[in-house]
Amino acid sequence: MYVLGIETSCDETGVAIVKNGRDVINNYFATQVPIHAQFGGVVPEIASRQHLIHITYLVRKVLEESNAIPDAVAVTQGPGLMGSLLVGVNFAKAYAWANKIPIIPIHHIEGHIFSAMLLEKSPEFPFLALVVSGGHTMLIECKAPHEYKIIGNTRDDAVGECFDKVARLLGLPYPGGPSIQKTAEKGNPHAIKFPLGLSSGENLEFSYSGLKTSVLYKIKDTPQSEKTEQWLADISASFQWCAIEVLINKTKLALKKTGLKKLVIGGGVSANALLRKRAVEELDAEIFLPPLKYCLDNGAMIASAGYSRLFHGYQSDFSFTANPSLPLC
Ligand SMILES: Nc1ncnc2c1ncn2[C@@H]1O[C@H](COP(=O)(O)OP(=O)(O)OP(=O)(O)O)[C@@H](O)[C@H]1O
Ligand SMILES: [Mg+2]
Repeated sequence: MYVLGIETSCDETGVAIVKNGRDVINNYFATQVPIHAQFGGVVPEIASRQHLIHITYLVRKVLEESNAIPDAVAVTQGPGLMGSLLVGVNFAKAYAWANKIPIIPIHHIEGHIFSAMLLEKSPEFPFLALVVSGGHTMLIECKAPHEYKIIGNTRDDAVGECFDKVARLLGLPYPGGPSIQKTAEKGNPHAIKFPLGLSSGENLEFSYSGLKTSVLYKIKDTPQSEKTEQWLADISASFQWCAIEVLINKTKLALKKTGLKKLVIGGGVSANALLRKRAVEELDAEIFLPPLKYCLDNGAMIASAGYSRLFHGYQSDFSFTANPSLPLC
């Protein structure tokens, strides 16, 4: 079965065609990073207009190159930016209606979890998922297909959002994650001690706003003459170390509490090299890390989740619409 996956929740137009939920036939996306970088972050109005510009071309390209006829369409229903989501949802509805094939609305975070199903060796349920992205920092017990329990969430900023905000404070380009990772390469991760949000006790909640504020004060308290290239590398490396340390510690705790032995890591921050390395080295679980091209937003993960929902008997009519604050469960 071929599923066409469409993802337009934020600033990437992602379109893919996936066979049986795991074999990616074609996966293309149009990134808007250079456009939003001029403003230091995503501008919603520009994002939705860009999706409109790219979506028809991308769908046509994916279909023509794959030579496959989709049996169903899966589309991100939410969460995300309303204007952006609407472009994908309405396009998907029109395509499914015209071709008389089923449409399946997908939760964006379920998509990030399903990016692990695109691995050659994919996880069997149950497993723990750590979803770390621009808008989410979540530990999710994935009990069975489409049966989730959120056991950890952030009280304030998401970890990806924290990377983006700290990069901005340091004068590094958007998006912050990759630029901090790059700058940190030559830095000492233990040069500056930053606080680890909500680190004491047994709770699985995250907090990243304190870490961001500490970086802000450190920048303010450092005399201009001391702000050398090495200082920038050290502060980036120290921030990155703390941000990742919290993820590692909380995931360790979640694995212990749930007794689960498999871990999926998804979302944009799962592209972070330090997180990937430390997860493999330090966590007592079989780790499922999607390749970099499926960490960020993409149509393939949405198609995979859509296939699984169809396989498990889910159906949808055309009455649903985009929902920027769609709950996962
Ligand atoms: N190497 C990296 N290290 C750390 N963070 C990274 C890295 N690469 C990307 N990111 C972060 O990932 C985020 C983007 O991920 P993604 O596209 O999944 O988020 P989103 O779709 O905007 O949010 P959500 O998935 O929560 O709706 C950005 O905050 C970016 O800084
Ligand atoms: Mg995302």
